[in-house]
Amino acid sequence: MRAVDLIQKKRDGGELSREEIAFLIQGYSKGEIPDYQISAWAMAVYFRGMNARETGDLTLEMAMSGDQVDLSPIAGIKVDKHSTGGVGDKTTVVLAPLVAAAGVPVAKMSGRGLGHTGGTLDKLESISGFSIEMGREQFFAQVGEIGAAVIGQSGNITPADKKLYALRDVTATVESIPLIASSVMSKKIAAGADAIVLDVKTGSGAFMKTLDDSIALAQAMVDIGTHLGRNTVAVISDMDQPLGYGIGNALEIKEGIETLKGHGPKDLQEVCLILGSQMLVLGGKAKDEAEARSILMSHIEDGSALEKFKQIVSAQGGKVSQVEAPETLPAARRFIEVKAATAGYVESIQAEEIGVAAMLLGAGRETKESVIDLAVGIQLSLKVGDAVAAGDTLAVLHVNDASENKVQEAEAKVLEAYRISAQPVPPQPLVFALVT
Ligand code: URA
Repeated sequence: MRAVDLIQKKRDGGELSREEIAFLIQGYSKGEIPDYQISAWAMAVYFRGMNARETGDLTLEMAMSGDQVDLSPIAGIKVDKHSTGGVGDKTTVVLAPLVAAAGVPVAKMSGRGLGHTGGTLDKLESISGFSIEMGREQFFAQVGEIGAAVIGQSGNITPADKKLYALRDVTATVESIPLIASSVMSKKIAAGADAIVLDVKTGSGAFMKTLDDSIALAQAMVDIGTHLGRNTVAVISDMDQPLGYGIGNALEIKEGIETLKGHGPKDLQEVCLILGSQMLVLGGKAKDEAEARSILMSHIEDGSALEKFKQIVSAQGGKVSQVEAPETLPAARRFIEVKAATAGYVESIQAEEIGVAAMLLGAGRETKESVIDLAVGIQLSLKVGDAVAAGDTLAVLHVNDASENKVQEAEAKVLEAYRISAQPVPPQPLVFALVT
């Protein structure tokens, strides 16, 4: 077999067999096929696409390229949740304890963030002492004992995807649905989930800006999961404004704690209940969404979801007193109010602009080497649909050490992110579709 023939076949709209896909991915992993040939193949896929069978085979090849976690020592159906990423998305902080309180084991491997705000791991590290590193045995033992653990990706998971993703990033081949779908799902399959709930964000702050593209990506991922014997569902949720009000690591943990107590923002609570319900149904703990929702609400109302979060924090070395008194979490020294120039109604809040503004303040990483300031970020005061008078505070910047230039740039971005309409704005849907 020769790589050049397979590139040509895909370029001309052909279908690659399992053996041909394995030849390309294994050859690339071993360094036997050079970057330029895989780049050409990725560009051919970008234009020609792949069918469901090819996408499934690519996923499996990448999943098998490194370690595969065997979660079978943990009893029960292990349901993983994955978000395609959005601004203010702190659903894992809420869902891991909430779903575990309802009896579904959560063995979660999360990531750090590049750009915008930090990832789930960075957010959790706002709690003093919280450790995201532990060995496999300890990970299993914690999930067995308290029902949940959230750790960093350990070992050598999907090295072929890592290499291919880095190449796609610099060859304009990221935005291909089969390549994104196989990249995401290969990591979920290698991480050992029995069932998978995907939160596919759509809108200005999402990877997929249109509903049609978001549904197509969701369907491709659900098809892969189903093809590989993992029960998979996808929720298409709104990212035309940030989720909740807090953007920035400690600010997001505070909001997550409020949500676990039942006092969080309505949109965050609702998205968590929808995703959590799917997790409970796939995990065999509820017969349908209505039953799942009432189980989840009961764990919020009786305090057991918050108690589960404290158990996770304690087991991972974090300071539980900070969960009990969130005002003791890292806090910024300066607060700058961003005020509305005109009156009207908030029409949209460009989530990406808000994310970049938070990053400028130090809440996210500009490069892999950047050090995050866990205390800083942006607290929104108004959301889509809210009435606004000229001079009202739209959002508050939480600032520590960012230079004056960066603070001014962040302020301008937040102001720009808020689109104000003269007409009242009808309520926006939070969830657009469920793809099964
Ligand atoms: N996230 C991934 O993990 N892979 C992609 O290809 C795109 C986003």
